[in-house]
Amino acid sequence: MLDNKLYSKLTRSFLRKWWLVIIVALSLIIGSLFVCLFFTPLVNSIIDSQLPLEEGSLTYDIWRKPPMNPVMKIYIYNVTNVDEFLNDKRKPILQELGPYTYIETWEKVNLRFHDNGTLTFNQRKIFKFSPELSNGTEDDTVHVPNIPLLSATTKSKLAPRLIRITINFMVKQRKIKPFVEVTVGQLLWGYEDSLLELAKETSPNETLPFDKFGLLYGKNGTYSDNVTIFTGADDIKKFGVIDKFNGQSKLTHWTTNSCNAINGTDGNVFPPHMDHDTTLHIYDKDLCRLMPLKYQKEVMLYGDIQGYRFSPSRDIFADISINPENECFCPSGPPCAPHGTFNISACQYDSPVLLSFPHFYLGDDKLRTAVDGMSPPDPKKHEFFADVQPEMGIPLRIFARLQFNLAINHVDDIEAVATFPDIVFPIMWFEDGLDKLPENITDLIKLGTVVPPVAKVSLMYTLFLLGAALLCFSIFCLIRTSNSREIMNLETAAQFAANYDANKKQKAATNGSNVNPAFIGDSGK
Ligand SMILES: *[C@@H]1O[C@H](CO)[C@@H](O)[C@H](O)[C@H]1NC(C)=O
Ligand SMILES: *[C@@H]1O[C@H](CO)[C@@H](O)[C@H](O)[C@H]1NC(C)=O
Ligand SMILES: *[C@@H]1O[C@H](CO)[C@@H](O)[C@H](O)[C@H]1NC(C)=O
Ligand SMILES: *[C@@H]1O[C@H](CO)[C@@H](O)[C@H](O)[C@H]1NC(C)=O
Ligand SMILES: *[C@@H]1O[C@H](CO)[C@@H](O)[C@H](O)[C@H]1NC(C)=O
Ligand SMILES: *[C@@H]1O[C@H](CO)[C@@H](O)[C@H](O)[C@H]1NC(C)=O
Ligand SMILES: *[C@@H]1O[C@H](CO)[C@@H](O)[C@H](O)[C@H]1NC(C)=O
Ligand SMILES: *[C@@H]1O[C@H](CO)[C@@H](O)[C@H](O)[C@H]1NC(C)=O
Ligand SMILES: *[C@@H]1O[C@H](CO)[C@@H](O)[C@H](O)[C@H]1NC(C)=O
Repeated sequence: MLDNKLYSKLTRSFLRKWWLVIIVALSLIIGSLFVCLFFTPLVNSIIDSQLPLEEGSLTYDIWRKPPMNPVMKIYIYNVTNVDEFLNDKRKPILQELGPYTYIETWEKVNLRFHDNGTLTFNQRKIFKFSPELSNGTEDDTVHVPNIPLLSATTKSKLAPRLIRITINFMVKQRKIKPFVEVTVGQLLWGYEDSLLELAKETSPNETLPFDKFGLLYGKNGTYSDNVTIFTGADDIKKFGVIDKFNGQSKLTHWTTNSCNAINGTDGNVFPPHMDHDTTLHIYDKDLCRLMPLKYQKEVMLYGDIQGYRFSPSRDIFADISINPENECFCPSGPPCAPHGTFNISACQYDSPVLLSFPHFYLGDDKLRTAVDGMSPPDPKKHEFFADVQPEMGIPLRIFARLQFNLAINHVDDIEAVATFPDIVFPIMWFEDGLDKLPENITDLIKLGTVVPPVAKVSLMYTLFLLGAALLCFSIFCLIRTSNSREIMNLETAAQFAANYDANKKQKAATNGSNVNPAFIGDSGK
């Protein structure tokens, strides 16, 4: 009873003196809990407020005129046995030349903002040949299939015989050959093609989309395509996603809505806050479809920036017996494109162009062994992947690697190509890559992603430890105070007892008797 009373009295007086300290200590501990719960959402909402593409936002200038230079590396398959291939039914022997390297400068021009959270722009890309990063020059001569001729002859297979006979006549008259000898610069950026001239002469009113033939013809400069994307201001999940391409929100080449969809980004930015289940989508006109990229693994770049590696699923170009979802990409089949290739003739003015990964990576090995001189695919060199910072959706490193092939059909009626077998003929492959970000960009990413978690943990622990220390200190003081009072009490009690004893002794001495009178009285009853 006495102890409890004493204790509560002590506590009350203690609290009167220490209440401020205890409240501060508890607030610090609660504060650390708040930091634990709400710091990350707060940082995310700050990131989300800075990402949308608006005049003055952090990403706008980086997006509009990226301070980094993507690098395009091109490898060309030079055919070294043209005569033997045409006359002796030998396999074509290919010599992989390159890389022919171009430094790119990208810019978005003619920006037009709409009031529904979208903006329209034209892409501008400038390619500069880099002799230092190349193995060869733009003046190297190469022997490659005559793509316009072989496209025309392959297409004519389904046309009436009369057309094939006409083509045969004209090809013979103009001495058009099934292989051309051109420089690398011509093959890439355009050369006068005799078949295109012929087409222009015979039907001058038909507008041909180009007057020269080149694999990258028209790619150096401002593109005429009007791309409308979501800025992310209304919905950050759509940040950078294409709304319309030349006014169209879908392709028309394929058989289902999901295969015709173009609602991906152009690969320069991605919607932020991704996890391991996120699928990224890239749309490129020349790809002729959305390229879905799936999470593979975590990577660390630039020291301490975390990245997620995304790459196309292994069955993306697979045969429909393996990946039935690809059926929609085969509108005129079966038979469909061979395993590991993707038929983009619908986007290439009906030329029989098949896309694949370089060296037919993930494709049918028969395609690779149908030619001589192509080494087996190596994922390190030939895989398509993107390393993306998951919170901000900024690509840290991208290697877009694809190969162009021509699917040539045997046609009897045209003499020049009559000895061509049915073959998927590799023409070239390229790597469009972004390997290194400038330091001020990586600093910005670190500020947005590396700093907050560290700041969160340090703030959380500092607050908690400070609060806990204060609390411990006050409890320690409480115990000490109460202890000292108890000791004081005990001392008083001891003294009292000693006094009592002394008194007793004194009393006994004065009474002259050892017997306690009270005791005698009690027991006497
Ligand atoms: C490409 O092959 C042809 C035929 O063998 C050869 O003459 C030419 O030098 C080769 N080109 C290069 C750049 O090696
Ligand atoms: C936004 O407005 C532009 C221009 O008026 C239009 O082309 C686009 O389709 C609109 N997008 C959406 C999602 O409403
Ligand atoms: C691309 O165009 C620019 C000028 O706009 C020019 O300087 C450059 O040489 C061109 N690149 C190629 C590969 O033709
Ligand atoms: C450069 O190309 C030649 C073929 O033209 C090849 O033999 C050589 O290995 C290549 N060098 C490099 C460094 O790739
Ligand atoms: C081409 O168009 C012009 C008028 O624009 C016409 O006179 C001519 O007959 C047309 N030629 C062909 C081959 O259609
Ligand atoms: C892009 O838009 C401009 C005007 O806004 C138009 O003149 C041009 O034809 C469009 N380009 C394409 C490829 O549709
Ligand atoms: C694209 O649009 C379809 C609906 O048309 C939707 O189901 C799909 O999730 C969208 N994809 C992306 C990447 O936004
Ligand atoms: C590619 O698709 C076109 C139709 O879009 C078709 O005519 C052609 O036969 C296909 N080529 C292959 C090799 O499947
Ligand atoms: C990064 O530095 C480059 C020059 O090295 C500059 O042009 C660019 O504006 C800077 N970007 C940012 C976001 O500071």
